[in-house]
Parts: sequence; C-alpha cells; structure tokens
Amino acid sequence: MSKSSSTEIIIDGRDDQAIRQAVQVLREGGLIGFPTETVYGLAANVENENALRRIFVVKNRPTNHPLIVHIADATELDDWAIDISPAAYELANQLWPGPLTMLLRRNKRISTVATGGRDTVAIRIPDHNVALRLLHEFNGALAAPSANRFGKVSPTTAQHVLADLGSDVDLIVDGGPCAVGIESTIIDMTATAPQLLRPGGIAIERIESILNTHIEYSNENPRAPGMLESHYAPRCLVELVESSDAAIKRAQVLRHTSRKVEVLDYSHDVDVFAAKLYEFLRAADRHGCDVVVAVLPSAVGLGQAIRDRLYKASTTRPNPYSN
Ligand code: TXA
Ligand code: MG
Repeated sequence: MSKSSSTEIIIDGRDDQAIRQAVQVLREGGLIGFPTETVYGLAANVENENALRRIFVVKNRPTNHPLIVHIADATELDDWAIDISPAAYELANQLWPGPLTMLLRRNKRISTVATGGRDTVAIRIPDHNVALRLLHEFNGALAAPSANRFGKVSPTTAQHVLADLGSDVDLIVDGGPCAVGIESTIIDMTATAPQLLRPGGIAIERIESILNTHIEYSNENPRAPGMLESHYAPRCLVELVESSDAAIKRAQVLRHTSRKVEVLDYSHDVDVFAAKLYEFLRAADRHGCDVVVAVLPSAVGLGQAIRDRLYKASTTRPNPYSN
C-alpha cells in the first residue's frame, strides 16, 4: 500500500466509502487500525498469513503471543472453533456483541500464526457500529491485537493509533473514542470449569451470574513486583494508592521534590475510570509528567480490570521516588 502523508491515513468510519476502502485494504493483505468498544485494534485478514505475520512485526510482539479473532456473528463461531460447549453459546447469546473474548479449541482452518502455535483460539464480536459494519462488509474474520506497540498503553482514539504506529499501518478507521476504554474480558471455555484469563470490559460477576458458577482468575499468583512483564506502561511512573486522601498527600510530597505530578482519581465511578484511563496515562506522558499517582478503585465490576491494568502500569520499572 502506498500512502501520501500520515494524516491522510485516518478516515471517517461513519462514511460508507471509508468502510469499502478499509475492506479493500484488508483484501489486499494490508493492516488497518479500527475502533471497537474496548480499544482500537490492528486488524488483518485472519486467512492471510503474510498479513498476520506483519502484525507481529509492526507491534514488535513475540510470535507466540496469540491474536484475538473478531467475527460479525455468533453463527460464524464454528468456522474457527470446535467443541463449543452450551455454556460458551450461552455467553455468546447473552453478551455478544460485547467486550467478552472466549478461548475455544481451534478449528484446523485457522492458521497457527494467529493462535501463536496453540491449539486454542480467542474469539469475540465487538460492540461497535463501525467494527460491525466493517466485519459484515469484509465477510470474513479479522485477527486484531490492540493497535499499540507491544507492552505500551492501548489506544482508545484513532489519533492514539497514528501516534503509536504512524505509517506502519495502511489505514486507520476513525470511530471516535472507545466507550468502554479497557480491553475485553478473556474467559477460557476449553476446560470444564471456565477460567478468567484477563479481567476486562465485562465484569466477571456478570459472567458468573449467567453461568451460575464461581470463576477463578488463573493469573492469581502474584509475581514479585519488577518481575512482571512490561505491559500497559506509560513513560512516566505510576504510583498506586488506596484513597483520594492518600493521593493528595502523596502528590504533595512528590511535588516538594520538584516532580511533575498528576493525580488519577475516578475511583467513584469505574465506568468513567475505564473510559478515561488510557487517555489519562498518554496525556501525562505528553505533558512531561514524572509521576502519576493513581487511586485504585475497589475490585468490584470493572474495578477488577482497572486495578489489573494499573498494577501492570506501575510495576514495570524500579521506582526511584518510593519511600
Ligand atoms: O478488547 C480487546 O480484546 C482488544 C480489541 C482490539 O478487541 N484486543 C486485545 O488484543 O486486547 P491483545 O492482543 O492486545 O490481547 C489479546 C490477549 C493476549 O493477552 C493474548 O495472549 C490472549 O489475548 N490470547 C489470544 N489468543 C489466545 C490463546 N489462544 N490462548 C491464550 N491467550 C490468548
Ligand atoms: Mg494489547
């Protein structure tokens, strides 16, 4: 694909012509940035292995780190997965389109390039008008990780995608800021007991009530801080506190040491917190902030996913300002 200038690669997803243009790029094996309700994705035709490989190169992502497959309709599930349980269909019926990704056993039709060599495949239907129109018009499935470089903060606007990936992406379809703002919840539905692999945009309590069972977080064992994979990390440091009062006090202490500090506190409303989280961290970097002091919301509903992302943003480097 050729591009004249980087600003021209953003097109307005409300426009039918834009959808056709994006579909054309995908059919030619190109990569597009596209909006979902969670975060922007970097999409390729799941049936084009060269395009899939390019996703890993552009993101600088290890090739054993599998991609999520996006489909338009639950009737397409068995094109890509096998042994789909009644419980999985129940979740699909009740929560799709929506920020739920299900891990299922892979249909041989799906390339192991997309599944990182695994025998399972992660699938979801995004709840975004532009994404759904794109998927219907494309008439296939799209493999898409979040449209950021590996380990960095996910994008929640078309401008974030452009700032991160520039002309490494062929086209960016603009669908406005993402309404949910954090990635989908990932549930492993391959075993008898479903397991939570990643908390995200659908509260685990909601899934538990549909399946009428308790769901374990398979990632529960805390690893030592500093040993955690670098993930969701801005350039500035992120310090975590448990209350708004503690945040104000900590910010004062840090400001006395001439640090540029911003306080992230939407702990009173987890939906707003999720929607604003990544833009806040990106803006802090743009402002040259040294430290973000973030107030952890309680671990209820989306609070669990927000806490997970904040821990990951905060534990990537040794913190010279602690104590
Ligand atoms: O909300 C979302 O899920 C966004 C939007 C674009 O849909 N996508 C997203 O993709 O967050 P990504 O690649 O950034 O995260 C996908 C996660 C990774 O942690 C990956 O390891 C896991 O899904 N995953 C995908 N396929 C898997 C598989 N077969 N087995 C285990 N984990 C898998
Ligand atoms: Mg990601």
